[in-house]
Amino acid sequence: METITGLPFMFLILCLVTREFLLNSDAQLTNCMDSDREALVDFKNGLHDPENRLSSWKGSNCCQWWGISCETTSGAVIAVDLHNPYPNNYDESTGTSGFWNLSGEIRPSLTKLKFLRLLDLSFNTFDGNTIPQFFGSLKNLQYLNLSNSGFRGPIPDSFGILQQNLTHLKLNDNALNGTLPESLGQLSELSTFDVSSNKLTGVVTEAHFLKLKKLSYLDLSSNSFKLNVNSNWVPPFQISSLSMRACHLGPSFPAWLKSQKQVMSLDFSNASLSGSIPNWFWEFSYPLLRLNLSFNQLAGQLPSRLEFSALGFPSQVIHLTGAVVDFSSNNFSGSIPKPRGINILDLSKNKLSGNIPNNISQSLVFLSIAYNQINGEIPASICNIGPYLKAIDLSNNNLTGSIPSSIGNCSDLSVLDISNNNLSGTIPTFLGQLGGLQTLHLHGNKLYGRLPSSFQNLSSLETLNLGNNRLSGVIPPWIGKGFERLRILSLRSNSFSGELPALLSNLSSLQILDLAENQLVGSIPPSFGHFKGMHMSQAQMINHYLLYRPSRSGIYILGGGNYEIVGSYYESFVVNMKGQPLRYTKTLSLVTALDLSGNNLSGDLPIEITNLLGLLVLDLSSNQITGHIPESISKLKELLSLDLSSNRFSGAIPQSLGSLSSLGYLNLSNNELSGPIPDKDQMLTFNASSFAGNVGLCGRQLAVKCPGDDKNGKPDKGRTAPKDAGNGDSFINKWFYLSIGLGFAAGILVPYLIMTMRKSWSIAYFDVVDKVVDRILYLWLKYRTTKQRTGRHQQRR
Ligand SMILES: *[C@@H]1O[C@H](CO)[C@@H](O)[C@H](O)[C@H]1NC(C)=O
Ligand SMILES: *[C@@H]1O[C@H](CO)[C@@H](O)[C@H](O)[C@H]1NC(C)=O
Ligand SMILES: *[C@@H]1O[C@H](CO)[C@@H](O)[C@H](O)[C@H]1NC(C)=O
Ligand SMILES: *[C@@H]1O[C@H](CO)[C@@H](O)[C@H](O)[C@H]1NC(C)=O
Ligand SMILES: *[C@@H]1O[C@H](CO)[C@@H](O)[C@H](O)[C@H]1NC(C)=O
Ligand SMILES: *[C@@H]1O[C@H](CO)[C@@H](O)[C@H](O)[C@H]1NC(C)=O
Ligand SMILES: *[C@@H]1O[C@H](CO)[C@@H](O)[C@H](O)[C@H]1NC(C)=O
Ligand SMILES: *[C@@H]1O[C@H](CO)[C@@H](O)[C@H](O)[C@H]1NC(C)=O
Ligand SMILES: *[C@@H]1O[C@H](CO)[C@@H](O)[C@H](O)[C@H]1NC(C)=O
Ligand SMILES: *[C@@H]1O[C@H](CO)[C@@H](O)[C@H](O)[C@H]1NC(C)=O
Ligand SMILES: *[C@@H]1O[C@H](CO)[C@@H](O)[C@H](O)[C@H]1NC(C)=O
Ligand SMILES: *[C@@H]1O[C@H](CO)[C@@H](O)[C@H](O)[C@H]1NC(C)=O
Repeated sequence: METITGLPFMFLILCLVTREFLLNSDAQLTNCMDSDREALVDFKNGLHDPENRLSSWKGSNCCQWWGISCETTSGAVIAVDLHNPYPNNYDESTGTSGFWNLSGEIRPSLTKLKFLRLLDLSFNTFDGNTIPQFFGSLKNLQYLNLSNSGFRGPIPDSFGILQQNLTHLKLNDNALNGTLPESLGQLSELSTFDVSSNKLTGVVTEAHFLKLKKLSYLDLSSNSFKLNVNSNWVPPFQISSLSMRACHLGPSFPAWLKSQKQVMSLDFSNASLSGSIPNWFWEFSYPLLRLNLSFNQLAGQLPSRLEFSALGFPSQVIHLTGAVVDFSSNNFSGSIPKPRGINILDLSKNKLSGNIPNNISQSLVFLSIAYNQINGEIPASICNIGPYLKAIDLSNNNLTGSIPSSIGNCSDLSVLDISNNNLSGTIPTFLGQLGGLQTLHLHGNKLYGRLPSSFQNLSSLETLNLGNNRLSGVIPPWIGKGFERLRILSLRSNSFSGELPALLSNLSSLQILDLAENQLVGSIPPSFGHFKGMHMSQAQMINHYLLYRPSRSGIYILGGGNYEIVGSYYESFVVNMKGQPLRYTKTLSLVTALDLSGNNLSGDLPIEITNLLGLLVLDLSSNQITGHIPESISKLKELLSLDLSSNRFSGAIPQSLGSLSSLGYLNLSNNELSGPIPDKDQMLTFNASSFAGNVGLCGRQLAVKCPGDDKNGKPDKGRTAPKDAGNGDSFINKWFYLSIGLGFAAGILVPYLIMTMRKSWSIAYFDVVDKVVDRILYLWLKYRTTKQRTGRHQQRR
């Protein structure tokens, strides 16, 4: 068993096995000891249980109470498992949300359970409680899980007394502070130790591991630990899974790792490591399956071959065939290694140069070499052998030549990003073979010619970004057909000519349409008011996308009992708003924008445009648009940025504009507008530059007196324009974050997950995706329930 404990998911299985072993299934038939029952009743009385989860805790046989297990012969209580079964407050069986968590006081009556082996209080809300010292007197305890349960304060010294029995200690995701007690180094039976995501500080030394000869799973991540051990330290254990993410390990690569021959998962990301990686590290022969060294300042060259033994694992749950390797965000130089036995390889944000090696894909599912200094052509062999390749990100390098037609052979591809390189030539027709493509970024190159008609086949596309190239011809009307999922379409800064196809409005999912800086002529079709994706308000959008399950996401694997994302590709897009380009990633799925600026469009602005109620950004600047600004523009309540400058708009500025309270940027300059500038509300936050170049305008903002106005025309000094932030995501409503949670905002829709499993395991995969989506749903339901509850409270009063 020892040998397989390292893998996070194997670890989970082991834990389940351990639990089975501990919780004898016949136990319920026995009668519990009176003293144990009394202890439990007292313990219960200390708890706060508003949902009455412990309603079965009555009657004399406590062995039949929920969460309690007894030993068959003696009737002694051996397990108290009060983990919250619905940590997300959502009960799948009833479809309702409720709070299942326990809180309150943990009474010392627990110590009367002399034979207790398992205590699991995880996923409850003992907020503010410290971990009681008396846990140290639970002499038989083997398994203690207090993860995600709101504990704060120090880790009690007394744990060290549990040396003869304790094998599992999980204290992760609490608010524990102070230092790690040295007495923990006495726990000679400990195999699993997880204190990740707390607020622990201080120095971790050899003493903390003194007798931990059985340790195989260690997670110290996301605290403020500094590891300070002797350079010739040889740990007493052989670790399988080691995570020291965001610990201070550096500056040099830990030498003691050399003694560890069974490492399967190693996370030294964001650990202040610098300098080069010693040679011994690359000579490992153990079956390393996860290696994360990202977010350090590691330098030097990577070995020319990066080889992992692509083992299969005797797991019934998920079948990984290769390794997950993340070297991103470092300072590695030299050329790209040839990978073997690797599923996920992230080398992005380094200083790698040279060409992309031939036959690189091999076993790859995900490849990112974005943000390096790679040059030369994309090898025609990029799709050889690797039919599993799901995502390729070669963006932000210096690749030249044309896009090889052979990319059409990567038949499983969902993400192709080769933006911001130096590619020329035409877009190969063969790209149309990639029917599963969801994201295609070709922007920022020197591609020319027309849009190949084979693109009609790309019916799964959600993002198509061809901006900043030299593409020409008309925008083909077929774009309006068959792209039901298309959410972002950018043809910005090309040489497209002709009129806007009215059929474009059939793109029912479209949220961002950017056709700026082309040579388009004619008037804006009234049908542009029918983009369904731009009709929804922010609140409706959140609702819509949470209840509608997006079919794909990214690469998930099971680790430490949780699903986690590995090798995710995050969609991002630059929206021109507030007069500057802003990159959206996390909240991209909530952005709606229509940008037709810098063309030769003429005619009046169709009033239908004001039906796009969810629009955040409207930019029609630098065209020849005529007529009045429609009064109904005030229907666009969510508008953050409105730019109608450098057109031929005439007449008065509608009074109703002042009611757009979200509007942070307004540019009406260089038109033929006249009359008084509305003198109230939001309109007072804009200064002269918003209105300049309109000979007929008057008002405070321009310091021009209007006829019949006897007040002086000074702008109000007390009010200034709202402050801008550099990052687009910050513009999205704060309450979105509050309700959904930052982490989920990032992952809802656009990031892609790729299976690390073989095809035959795809059922497991979809389960995983559903679980993740469910989790988002729980949070949303919880938010709604809370709101309803507070609403009801307020009504009662
Ligand atoms: C359960 O958790 C929710 C959300 O974390 C919290 O609002 C609520 O107060 C908790 N309930 C109890 C009984 O502590
Ligand atoms: C726990 O340790 C004690 C010694 O402190 C020992 O007597 C007892 O058998 C152990 N319990 C289990 C379940 O291994
Ligand atoms: C408690 O931790 C163990 C691992 O030590 C894990 O297997 C178990 O699932 C955890 N309990 C809950 C409710 O997650
Ligand atoms: C731990 O946090 C508590 C507040 O929760 C604070 O009073 C205490 O001083 C902190 N202890 C340490 C060692 O930082
Ligand atoms: C790295 O760790 C620091 C804390 O040490 C944290 O603030 C930061 O967000 C982490 N960076 C990444 C990329 O995870
Ligand atoms: C990264 O490497 C370059 C040389 O390749 C060096 O000049 C630079 O200082 C390094 N940066 C960091 C943060 O280590
Ligand atoms: C790439 O793979 C093909 C066969 O799939 C093989 O013929 C060729 O020699 C390989 N090229 C290199 C440079 O390894
Ligand atoms: C693109 O290539 C040209 C010469 O071929 C070079 O001058 C230019 O710097 C390259 N652009 C980038 C972004 O590397
Ligand atoms: C990009 O490559 C071209 C031709 O290989 C070279 O002239 C240019 O300097 C490179 N640009 C950068 C930024 O490395
Ligand atoms: C796709 O691969 C096959 C052989 O594997 C090759 O014959 C064909 O030319 C490739 N297609 C393209 C467009 O390169
Ligand atoms: C269209 O896409 C499918 C895969 O979805 C592919 O098999 C087919 O060859 C493609 N057709 C064309 C004309 O590219
Ligand atoms: C590696 O670690 C970083 C920072 O801790 C994390 O953001 C990233 O997702 C990890 N990579 C993989 C492949 O798990």
